[in-house]
Amino acid sequence: MTRHFRTDDDLTSAEQHRVLSRALELKVDRFASTALAGPESVAVIFDKPTLRTQVSFATGIAEMGGYPLVLDGRLAGIGRRESVADVARVIGRQVRAIVWRTFAQADLEEMADVAQVPVINALTDQLHPCQGLADLVTVAEHTGGLAADGPALAGRSLAYVGDGSNNMAHTYLLAGAVAGMDVRIGTPPAFQPEARILARAEQIARGSGGSVSVHTDPVAAVRGVDAVATDTWVSMGQEDQADQREAPFRRYQLNADLLAAASPSAIVLHCLPAYRGKEITADVLESEASVVWQEAENRLHVQKAVLEFLVGEA
Ligand code: CP
Repeated sequence: MTRHFRTDDDLTSAEQHRVLSRALELKVDRFASTALAGPESVAVIFDKPTLRTQVSFATGIAEMGGYPLVLDGRLAGIGRRESVADVARVIGRQVRAIVWRTFAQADLEEMADVAQVPVINALTDQLHPCQGLADLVTVAEHTGGLAADGPALAGRSLAYVGDGSNNMAHTYLLAGAVAGMDVRIGTPPAFQPEARILARAEQIARGSGGSVSVHTDPVAAVRGVDAVATDTWVSMGQEDQADQREAPFRRYQLNADLLAAASPSAIVLHCLPAYRGKEITADVLESEASVVWQEAENRLHVQKAVLEFLVGEA
């Protein structure tokens, strides 16, 4: 059966643990995986802007002996010039895997349903699971590594403050629940996570020993946690709402006062790009607690581990 990474919970807790462990190995030995030797091609398609995702997938695929076929999705016109299903049938016959950044999660899932090769979610409006894994690796590096057995980050805590309805909030809920973490979302009442995702995260957490909660008080969300994360208040596609989206989130800015409520050894995560003075202050982003550059590098290592896992399972 072809395996995909469409959502954070496409990996079980044991599989996520395996992928995170492998990412840490590949970080030490960059060329240890030859899973794409041939070279086999991987289509890496972008319907939205990118820096980190394009660089890390292209670099990682090459380091695995493969060929990164980076495509501008706007030129291909997926879903407009040609249906998602027809594109999946064309590409799936030629490449070893498909990585796609697009808008609708449903389109990504249709690609996975039709393509005969693994499909990886490189960000949709709903989820950003590759970023979620990179963030978990980064938390592990700063909190004593991965658990010896069981969920990878059992007992560790992470708070996300900002837009609770965006893809990073959803990803932290699901990926953190799979990892057995205590995940807390601090967000205004009008920006709650999707009920279906919150319910799924609660269900996963019951099995993994983790927990998930949503708070309107950002200090309550952050109190004592091992990691504090935030993201832009204006996600891709919301640029025309930038002005009205600022006021509701001001109280949730990740600044020194809010960070002081976290554990004294807490790390700061941001998937980037960051908007200094908006969702995070410059002093916090540049502080010793901030591990955002390491977090960005970890995209490379974890995505290689995901590719190796999916190609191996297929
Ligand atoms: N964090 C992230 O996905 O970065 P890019 O949008 O630059 O790819």
